Amino acid sequence: MRSFQFYNPTRLIFGKGQLEALKTEVPKYGKRVLLVYGGGSIKRSGLYDQVIGLLGEIGAEVTELAGVEPNPRLSTVHKGVDLCKTNNIDLVLAVGGGSVLDCAKAIAVGAKYDGDMWDFAQRKAVAQDALPLGTVLTMAATGSEMNSGSVITNQDTQEKLGWGSAHSFPAFSILDPVNTYTVPRDQTVYGMVDMMSHVLEHYFHLDANTPVQLGFCETILRTVMDAAPRLVDDLENYELRETILYCGTMALNGVLNMGLAGDWATHNIEHAVSAVYDIPHGGGLAILFPHWMKHNLNVKVDRFKRLAINVFDVNPEGKSDRQVAEEGIEALSQFWTSIGAPNRLADYDIDDSQIDVMADKAMLFGPFGNFKKLQREDVVSIYKASL
Ligand code: NZQ
Ligand code: ZN
Repeated sequence: MRSFQFYNPTRLIFGKGQLEALKTEVPKYGKRVLLVYGGGSIKRSGLYDQVIGLLGEIGAEVTELAGVEPNPRLSTVHKGVDLCKTNNIDLVLAVGGGSVLDCAKAIAVGAKYDGDMWDFAQRKAVAQDALPLGTVLTMAATGSEMNSGSVITNQDTQEKLGWGSAHSFPAFSILDPVNTYTVPRDQTVYGMVDMMSHVLEHYFHLDANTPVQLGFCETILRTVMDAAPRLVDDLENYELRETILYCGTMALNGVLNMGLAGDWATHNIEHAVSAVYDIPHGGGLAILFPHWMKHNLNVKVDRFKRLAINVFDVNPEGKSDRQVAEEGIEALSQFWTSIGAPNRLADYDIDDSQIDVMADKAMLFGPFGNFKKLQREDVVSIYKASL
């Protein structure tokens, strides 16, 4: 293992009926709340009314920012920062999926910064302060509810950049599986692909002596794969929603990657695709991850073999390590297709016309990936294989 420090300040409040915790959490930070939400799913589900009701009971003064886009935009972040500054906001409260949470994180740091929050995404500055942030998560996917990461799209430059800081962890996050019942089938699938991808990003590392970490990763992958086929046909199944919600948080809250540096190249490659084509992040990952794997099989064939045997039950008898590894990658791809994920860029009508543009975007900060440093030609080759 490499040396590490682990610190996660988010109070995770998990379970049925836990929304009530707003009444004890919100007053810790003040009265003036900026309520941030998306395109209307929380109004249709009734969650908006419940949140407003509880905030009313504690006498909170609520300002609203509605309409956060999937792949949240910098222009929306700017609106939120202005609202915070003009209304002297005490707490940013995000109610929604990863996009709403990420937008709220950017607003919370932007409200305490004199320049443009985009400086943080461009690595020109590091956030030194933030308004406190609370979240009510409505979709299992990103892990944003218990990490410091945020991904924002600048529409003017067609850049989609991740950023994070010690100040962008939520102070509290409320996760009730019931609030994820209304996530449509396709978004449920994208979310499960995303959390599996986070686990895989951790799994492909070069640090030695990480048996517990690898085992945790395999357990989460097997658990998602066990629940997923049943959940897509039974969207209001409490136990399955609960399992998936917990997996999504555990996949990216810092626990799995203690003592190791995961790869993260596929995420960078995907963000460049969704920057240009505005596709769902999980859909992009389902297409790209198997091709990243094929491209990097030789880096450490043992790791791919282990994944094939321990997660996909590939029988290694009479096969070379490479054959076993390849069968594992094929099994992953087939599994994602079987639950309804896309598997070619053509599924989103993406052809080869923007490959150079996407490769340039992916290379913005130079060669990347901790398992294998990718150069521009590697990125182009992965895009071409994914067409
Ligand atoms: O906008 P509304 O109306 O709320 O609808 C959303 C949206 O259309 C809908 N939805 C969410 N909860 C729902 C629901 N519909 C019905 N019922 C519910 N309970 O689902 C759609 C997608 O929502 P979104 O928040 O975009 O999805 P997700 O949670 O997958 O977030 C994706 C964003 O997170 C970034 C991605 O790049 C992308 O921009 N990521 C953030 C990470 C992080 N902060 O750590 C890591 C990830 O790897 C990822 O990059
Ligand atoms: Zn992701």
